Amino acid sequence: MAKINDNYLKLKAGYLFPEIGRRVREFSAANPAAKVIRLGIGDVTRPLAPAVLKAFHDAVDDLATTDKFAGYGPEQGYDWLINAIIEKSYKPLGVSLKTEEMFISDGSKCDCANILDIFGMDNVVAIGDPVYPVYNDTNVMIGRTGEADDKGYYANVVYLPCTEANGFIPSLPTQKVDIIYLCFPNNPTGTVASKAELKKWVDYANANDCVIFFDAAYEAFITNPEIPHSIYEIEGAKKCAIEFRSFSKTAGFTGVRCGLVVVPEEVMGTTSTGERYSFNKLWLRRTTTKFNGASYPVQRAAAAVYSEEGWKQTKEIIDYYMENARIIREGLREVGVTCFGGVDAPYIWLKTPGGMTSWDFFDKLLTECNVVGTPGSGFGPSGEGYFRLSAFGHRENVIEAVERIKKNLK
Ligand code: MLT
Repeated sequence: MAKINDNYLKLKAGYLFPEIGRRVREFSAANPAAKVIRLGIGDVTRPLAPAVLKAFHDAVDDLATTDKFAGYGPEQGYDWLINAIIEKSYKPLGVSLKTEEMFISDGSKCDCANILDIFGMDNVVAIGDPVYPVYNDTNVMIGRTGEADDKGYYANVVYLPCTEANGFIPSLPTQKVDIIYLCFPNNPTGTVASKAELKKWVDYANANDCVIFFDAAYEAFITNPEIPHSIYEIEGAKKCAIEFRSFSKTAGFTGVRCGLVVVPEEVMGTTSTGERYSFNKLWLRRTTTKFNGASYPVQRAAAAVYSEEGWKQTKEIIDYYMENARIIREGLREVGVTCFGGVDAPYIWLKTPGGMTSWDFFDKLLTECNVVGTPGSGFGPSGEGYFRLSAFGHRENVIEAVERIKKNLK
């Protein structure tokens, strides 16, 4: 009989968001009259920017013609999209990248998981706590970890607590690690890292032969001009960092699907016989073998985000969500809730009132306010006692949710 991948049995619970969905469905079935407002998963609600939508439509129409029809594209993405991103999004930051260093994909979640294919199993990973669950769970699935302990920490993983005491920015690891996951602006805490903070990590990685996986999925939400949008704004980062970006939140592509990975040619690892080898070459090999590229219309739509009109319209949508974030943050503070994030990130990380557990607060909000958020403990043990609200809702729903919570907590 075929054997299963036993590593999957080590996973403690279902993936966080389907689990929340299940609880909400159960509640709604039992309370059909309740108008449930969802500020749980960070899923966008605004329609695509008109210029992006037009490019999308036009590209579909291309497929109806013989001269513009597009079949298989380059697995790593079309040059016209890669070059638009380099020119419009990286160059203004003072970052120059080669076309060959960027790979277009169908989303950042898959990229964060797939990148593990090109790293040896005996690498030790360091992961924040709390953290976007994909980093942890994909390492469990691939077999890099041991079993989880009672708290939910897996053996062979170095966890870096992100707490109120350290401003939700992890300390450098105190033991030898090979791969470090960093996510700024952070999901779930909404924290950002200054250039000085990132420099500390880049210097550490270069001094200790580590690779940093830098998840910049939320960079477009940064409002403070001092905060770096890319790790490559930091000197030395091209030697040690792989960066992930996504169109999901930036341009409303959660259902459309497009992301990108930057793997600079200088990022090196060693073979089992000790020679240096470029991760870029391996990622190209993997991509061309296991992927056939994001679809042509999707890449056309993504390129339109960087047109003058497309970016102006996209930025208006980002500003809309950030106004939602302000409404949530300031509204909750009025009733004494301690809130973090929500200034340079679309997530508000709040301390559960009265020391409630994250899941108890989830149930309270769901049953008493009919508002869905995400329990902090779902992002890791250090998230216990915290709760995440997403700013990606419709404005009227966000206002109503805040009013309901304020009334409940007064
Ligand atoms: C979240 O809510 O943390 C994200 O939407 C999940 C994701 O991007 O996969």
